[in-house]
Amino acid sequence: MNDILPDAAATWRLVEDVVRGTIESYGYREIRLPILERTDVFARAIGEVTDIVEKEMYSFKDRNDESLTLRPEGTAGMVRAGITNGLLHNQRQKLWTVGPMFRYEKPQKGRYRQFHQFDVEAMGYEGPDIDAELMILCARLWEKLGLKRLSLEINTLGTQDNRAKYRHELVKYFSAVKSQLDEDSIRRLEKNPLRILDSKNPDMQRLIAAAPVITDHLDVESRAHFDGLKLLLNAADVPFTVNPRLVRGLDYYNLTVFEWITDALGSQGAVCAGGRYDGLVEKLGGKATPAIGWAMGVERLVELYETSGGKAGVLAPDVYIVAAGDDAFSCGIKAAEILRDRIPEIKVELNLGGGSFKSQLKRADKSGAAYAVVLGEEEVAGNRAGLKPLRDREPQVDVEFDELAEAIAARLRK
Ligand code: HAM
Repeated sequence: MNDILPDAAATWRLVEDVVRGTIESYGYREIRLPILERTDVFARAIGEVTDIVEKEMYSFKDRNDESLTLRPEGTAGMVRAGITNGLLHNQRQKLWTVGPMFRYEKPQKGRYRQFHQFDVEAMGYEGPDIDAELMILCARLWEKLGLKRLSLEINTLGTQDNRAKYRHELVKYFSAVKSQLDEDSIRRLEKNPLRILDSKNPDMQRLIAAAPVITDHLDVESRAHFDGLKLLLNAADVPFTVNPRLVRGLDYYNLTVFEWITDALGSQGAVCAGGRYDGLVEKLGGKATPAIGWAMGVERLVELYETSGGKAGVLAPDVYIVAAGDDAFSCGIKAAEILRDRIPEIKVELNLGGGSFKSQLKRADKSGAAYAVVLGEEEVAGNRAGLKPLRDREPQVDVEFDELAEAIAARLRK
């Protein structure tokens, strides 16, 4: 779990602002959700036999002996909120949220136990138009952030019916080679055979590579949805590849699944991932509602932004107020508030903790401020202030106190 220090936070803010703006430009509205949910919300939504639910959740009993879990992802909570607040009843919703998620994973570069996701969900939409639009939104975002090394992989898991038939094929295949399966896979063979395809065990990869692929077993409806998506992505000039091995690590998906991957971040290359989950609302107690969404890892996005040369500017103050003596300090407080009143965007830092002119000017310089406002006994007595440029060789000028804000505003506008 990481501390995000001020320099990094500035870059986070910049990146987050672009993501937020882009998401909202597609008509999504913000929703803020609790970080804790009842454990069964995640167990039911993500699936009992998944890595997340089996091994990675931070779960605990509260004082009422109820099992709660720090959210490992956003979709389950979003659907729960949609149902409990009646947002989904005969309505369509395009919602987004951002915040920390928690998974007890083995930490490494790009994989953390507390990480952050932007989560975007469209509920009540059948697609494939919305499926395509959600990916087009990402492509626009990469463009805005200047990110180049991202590629889109898509797959379909078929309708629920189709998935059940494919499951049958998988069971047939893996049962025939059962003696070669690892312990996890044998367990999954009975409960959730699709999860075997998601195994990270190198010894299993040969068997997995030879397993039947869903794209060879699609029914008419599933194929039509997938073809529709591909057509729309082509029409929008968003390049993609079909990866029939893409199954995703959560159980709620059907039809469309996708991932945006980069080769610029080492082994943790998935920056944004998602898919359709038409059965989830009903499974969590609501009325059957088609839905699709994605989540984007903010750590990975920021890292990619930085590797691509992006960085937030240093957030230095515009003005540092140097005030030597009690009267000058009182005058300094007033000056700082007047500047904040009159120049809305200004960043003003007032010297705190006293000190000689010399030491205060040193601090002013170190702060990175463009200008120092200098207040001493003489200035206060004369109702004036010194205005000293700190980043060029221009001389200090004397300004009437009442004209200080205007003088600074004029210089900052230049
Ligand atoms: P996910 O693939 O588990 O999907 O996570 C989405 C993204 O979150 C990943 O592609 C990655 O960028 C980031 N991420 C996941 N785990 C970590 C970690 N331990 N450290 C850093 N980043 C991480 C979901 O969570 C689904 N809820 C996505 C979704 C939304 N599907 C439909 N709607």
